[in-house]
Amino acid sequence: MCSPGLLTSENAAPVPQLFFSPALFVTKLFAAARSQSQARRFPRAAGPRDGIYSIRCCACTDIIRTSKNHPTVSHPRVQAASAASGTFDVLSMNVAGLPEILNGNGESGDKTTNTAIIGQDMAKFAYDVIHVQEDFNYHATLYANDNHTFRTATSGGVPFGSGLNTLSNFDWLDFTRIKWATCSDASENDCLTPKGFTFMRLRIDEGVYIDFYNLHADAGTEAGDETARAANLQQVADYIDVWSTGNAVLVFGDTNARYTRADDGIRVFSTQNGLTDAWVQDAEGGVFPAIGADALLCPDGVPTNISCEVVDKVLFRGNNFITLSNTGFFYDTARFLSSDLATLSDHNPVRVDFTWTLATTLRQSDLQGGPHGTWFNDLPSLPASPKAHVLTLRGGARLDSVAISLTSGASFTHGGTGGTAVSLTLAAGEAVLSGTLCWGQFNGDMRNFYALFTTSAARTLTAGVMTSSCATMTAPTGFGVVGFFGQDGDEMDQLGFIYAKQ
Ligand SMILES: *[C@@H]1O[C@H](CO)[C@@H](O)[C@H](O)[C@H]1NC(C)=O
Ligand SMILES: *[C@@H]1O[C@H](CO)[C@@H](O)[C@H](O)[C@H]1NC(C)=O
Repeated sequence: MCSPGLLTSENAAPVPQLFFSPALFVTKLFAAARSQSQARRFPRAAGPRDGIYSIRCCACTDIIRTSKNHPTVSHPRVQAASAASGTFDVLSMNVAGLPEILNGNGESGDKTTNTAIIGQDMAKFAYDVIHVQEDFNYHATLYANDNHTFRTATSGGVPFGSGLNTLSNFDWLDFTRIKWATCSDASENDCLTPKGFTFMRLRIDEGVYIDFYNLHADAGTEAGDETARAANLQQVADYIDVWSTGNAVLVFGDTNARYTRADDGIRVFSTQNGLTDAWVQDAEGGVFPAIGADALLCPDGVPTNISCEVVDKVLFRGNNFITLSNTGFFYDTARFLSSDLATLSDHNPVRVDFTWTLATTLRQSDLQGGPHGTWFNDLPSLPASPKAHVLTLRGGARLDSVAISLTSGASFTHGGTGGTAVSLTLAAGEAVLSGTLCWGQFNGDMRNFYALFTTSAARTLTAGVMTSSCATMTAPTGFGVVGFFGQDGDEMDQLGFIYAKQ
C-alpha cells in the first residue's frame, strides 16, 4: 500500500475559504459549474476501460489524475495472514461547516472555534472511521486539529464541494465521489453545492475489505424535497448493487430521512441491499417505526438515551466471508461540547461499535491492479467445500483473463478473450497455493500484466509479461485458491484471490 507520508501534503493543502458577496457568489457559481463538468469526466465509468484514472493506493485523495504520473512502486512482497476477527468503531457527524453567513445552525460559539474542538475530539476519541458531512468552509481547521492517518482531500467549500470527507485509521482503495442525479431547492438550497455520496473500499486487514459509503441527501419536506431525497437514496442503493455485489457494506451519513415519514425512501437500504440499520436494531428491537407516526425528535442538547431518531444513519451488512455485528449504538453528543458545555453542531454525532469475524473456511488476498472495468466477486457463487479442478489463464502482452472450474462443476471466468489460453488440470488432492501478480500502466490505466500460480505439487501456470511491480500472495496453511474478486473488462484490471479450506 502507499505511504501515508505521501498524503500529508494533500491533507495540508490550503483550502479556499470563500467570502460571500452576492456578485462574487454568482461568479463562483459559474466557475463551480465549469469545474464540475470537468470533474465529472473523472468519476469511474460503469463500462469497462473508460475510467481514465488509476489508483493503486491510496487513501486520502480523489485527485486521481496525478497517479498516472507516479512511477509504479516496486514492492514484491509476500502477504501476511489476516487476523480472524477484530473490532472497529465508526462515527457519522454533520459538522455544520456551511459559512456562518449562510447558516448559523443556532449553535453558540463561532464556527472556527467549534470546528477546532470537533477536530480535537475526533483525535482524542480515536474513532476508526469518521464520515463527515457539511465539511465545507472550516475544513482546514478540522484537519489541523485532527490526527487521523488517512483522510480524503477536500472537494472544496461551498459552492464547489460536497462537504463529504472521511478520516480513518485504515487505508483504502478506489475512492470515488458521485454527485446526486437529482436535487431540489423546494426548501433549503440543496442545489447550491454539488452534494452526493462517496465510495471507498476500506482495507481492514490483509484481504479483508469493507465498502464504505458516506452521503448527504436532500433536505426539507416539500414535495420536491421528498422526491429528490428518495431519488438520492435510490441512487446509492443502485450503486451498491453494482459496485458492492458480494461485499460487506457500511453506509453512514446524513440521510435527511426518518422512518416515520412515508416518502423518504430510507427503507430501500433494507429492501434492496439487505442492510441493517444499527439504530432500528438497538433502539427499536429491529422493527421499523411506523410510517405516519409522530417524528421521534431528539431533545435539544445531549440526548439521555437513544430512543429518539436522528437523520444520521448507520446501516451495514456482512457477506459470506465477513460477519459484521453491531455491538453498540450511541449518540456521542457529550463528547463534542464547547468549554461551556454547548453543542458544536445541530446534529448529534452517531457512533456504532462493530466486531468483524471471518468465516473459518475462507480467506482472501489483497487486491492488486487498478480500479477500472466492472466489479465481480465469486464469493456468493462458491459451493460448500469448494476445490479447484482446472485453472485457465489467457495472456499476451498483459493478463487477459483468469478462469477456474471447481470439482463441483461450478466455473468462473473473468476478463476478455484476447491472448493465448493455457490450462492446468489439478490432480486429486492438489491445490493452488500461491499466485504472483504484476501490474503496470496501459493507456493511462493501472491493470494486471502477469500472473503466476503455483500448486501444492510445485506445478506452475503463467500468462502475460512481468513488470517491476509484483506481489506474491500465498494461501494460509491448509487453504487453496478457489475463486476471484476484483474488476475486469476485456483484461484483468484488479484481481484478488479467494482461498477455501481444503
Ligand atoms: C491522535 O491523538 C490522540 C490523542 O489526542 C492519540 O490518542 C492518538 O493515538 C493519536 N492518533 C494518531 C493516529 O496519531
Ligand atoms: C429517553 O429520553 C426521553 C427524553 O428525550 C425520555 O422522555 C424517555 O423517558 C427516555 N427513555 C428511557 C427508556 O429512558
